Amino acid sequence: MSSPGSQSIQSVLKETRTFAPPATFSAQAHISSRQQYEAMWKKAKDDPAGFWGEMAENLDWFRRWDTVLQGQMPETKWFSGAKINASYNCVDRHLKGSRRNKAAIIWEGEPGDTRVLRYQDLHREVCRFANVLKQLGVQLGDRVTLYMPMIPELTIAMLACARIGAVHSIIFGGFSADAVADRNNDAQAKVVVTADGGWRRGKEVPLKAAVDASLDRSPTVEKVVVVRRTGGEVDMVPDRDFWWHELMQGVPAECDAVQLDSEHPLFILYTSGSTGKPKGVMHTTAGYLLGTTMTSRWVFDLKEEDTYWCTADIGWITGHSYICYGPLSNGATVMMYEGAPNWPDEGRFWELIEKYRVSIFYTAPTAIRAFIKWGNHWPEKYDLSSLRLLGSVGEPINPEAWMWYHRVIGQERCPIVDTWWQTETGSIMVSPLPGVTPTKPGSCCHPLPGVVPDIVTRTGQSLGANEGGLLVMRQPWPSMLRTLYGDHERFKKTYFSEVAGCYFAGDGARHDEDGYLWVMGRVDDVLNVSGHRLSTMEVESALVAHPQVAEAAVVGFPHEIKGEGICCFVTLKSGEGDDGLKVELTQHVRQAIGALATPDQVRFATALPKTRSGKIMRRLLRDIAAGRESTQDTTTLEDLSILAKLRSDEE
Ligand code: WT7
Repeated sequence: MSSPGSQSIQSVLKETRTFAPPATFSAQAHISSRQQYEAMWKKAKDDPAGFWGEMAENLDWFRRWDTVLQGQMPETKWFSGAKINASYNCVDRHLKGSRRNKAAIIWEGEPGDTRVLRYQDLHREVCRFANVLKQLGVQLGDRVTLYMPMIPELTIAMLACARIGAVHSIIFGGFSADAVADRNNDAQAKVVVTADGGWRRGKEVPLKAAVDASLDRSPTVEKVVVVRRTGGEVDMVPDRDFWWHELMQGVPAECDAVQLDSEHPLFILYTSGSTGKPKGVMHTTAGYLLGTTMTSRWVFDLKEEDTYWCTADIGWITGHSYICYGPLSNGATVMMYEGAPNWPDEGRFWELIEKYRVSIFYTAPTAIRAFIKWGNHWPEKYDLSSLRLLGSVGEPINPEAWMWYHRVIGQERCPIVDTWWQTETGSIMVSPLPGVTPTKPGSCCHPLPGVVPDIVTRTGQSLGANEGGLLVMRQPWPSMLRTLYGDHERFKKTYFSEVAGCYFAGDGARHDEDGYLWVMGRVDDVLNVSGHRLSTMEVESALVAHPQVAEAAVVGFPHEIKGEGICCFVTLKSGEGDDGLKVELTQHVRQAIGALATPDQVRFATALPKTRSGKIMRRLLRDIAAGRESTQDTTTLEDLSILAKLRSDEE
């Protein structure tokens, strides 16, 4: 991809293979023909209110809406005047018939312990924890931070918040105490729910200790609830810290779901942007729930008898939308696994699929690349015949990884849905429909009903086939973010000022001559590491906070497993760097942001390449980090000799 400033982006990928959906799949699918899809898409485009009003019949409402859609992007309101509750839709409404005894969550811990919660059980636990939250003083609209391992209590806590109209803010368990403190403060959280720790590759990840370290700097937090998971040592501060199991004993197992306005905030989820602190993406109740409910049905073709497994952590949007709200609202059976894919060995995922007869499997390209590296003998040891549909999310999937997924895991039988979406979009936007779309490896294919994308220049001109440009949305959709928590100006500026009248969240893309969409990656200074967005700016800030660092520039480089690796160019205040300092800086970043942001390379430089106006020339650094000869224009570079020095420094 060429520089972000240019009008179009050159594409080098040519893919000609296509894979039609098996006729047997199409015959039973929720959306089963191209005509059906096209009619839905056209209706949603021409008459969004009519289309989404019809779709909304799939949810349970306490009071119906006066209008389906009010206003224009970015200030839209969906289902004004209605009353609804997401927890009620994900749990209570399934208790009326035989689903009450159906497994909602089938969970396996990393050590091999298992739990099954039927919809009735989930209801009881959610009600109790909602009562616990109320007892701790949590009121309508209060923010609750969830910093937990992948255990059923996390889903229970989410649905308990939603039940009483509290707003959850989940922090991925891989983030550090500093990140927890920042997010607690930004959201002004009142209560934190955590666990003593979680299991990851046989080791305990201490969570309560990180919460303790964050609390000195989180003045709004009044109470902490701790799930006993690992049995590890924790400090419990009297009147502040409480055990989950003790609180749960003292409360009733019934708690009415509060009748909430459609636009009542459901959750905040922090994500990285190119500048400034993490952005608190805020989603509201009705539109988000409708988006996740319908897309779960359309894209994953969820059926009563499926066992559905999304391998994401609930701490990311994928887990919010496609472990919790979307599938549970559909009354599905959701598999949930706590630990690492290579524990106790590299066969763990395939063993789980065989054991629970998983039928739908949704994972990320970074995981697929790791599976490929570990070798075919792992999946080949297990019976994967229960699988009927595979999904991918998080970054563009390389055609060869797609082919491997198709052949080795899908056994050439299962359609693959490559789903493009974002934290901000709330639900899947562009994806094949498994019973309809002939897929091309590496393409996320076509927009779902209600999604009207375009590929444009910076001035908003639509581009033709195979011309790369900015991916934008021309029409609002129900599950779009409503604001950035506490900073509505930043919300408008970030997403709606780049291309007039459109939503833009930073990806480059093209469509091909058949109208298939190909996402080419981010155009801003945001890295995609293992399918997760990290801001180069935040890693730089962490580095500069180290007493010996003068200046830092962070860029991504192609990484076999992670997609993008993190390379840090660092200049020091004095003296020369050595291996000891490299290790120290690596640890320093890990400490400040979390393991996810651990640098892959630290390189010391005497100076960074800059333009005459003092801007760091990242594209040059990207070439150096990737070990490529640079074809970039260097005429604006202030001091050419710096480049030669940086190159000769390569490891
Ligand atoms: C960014 C969003 C959506 C959940 C996971 C990440 C990239 C995501 C795809 C895909 C190509 C993809 C984009 C997007 N991305 N899915 N199927 N093909 N790129 O959520 O952290 O908000 O990141 O991930 O660059 O903008 P996120």
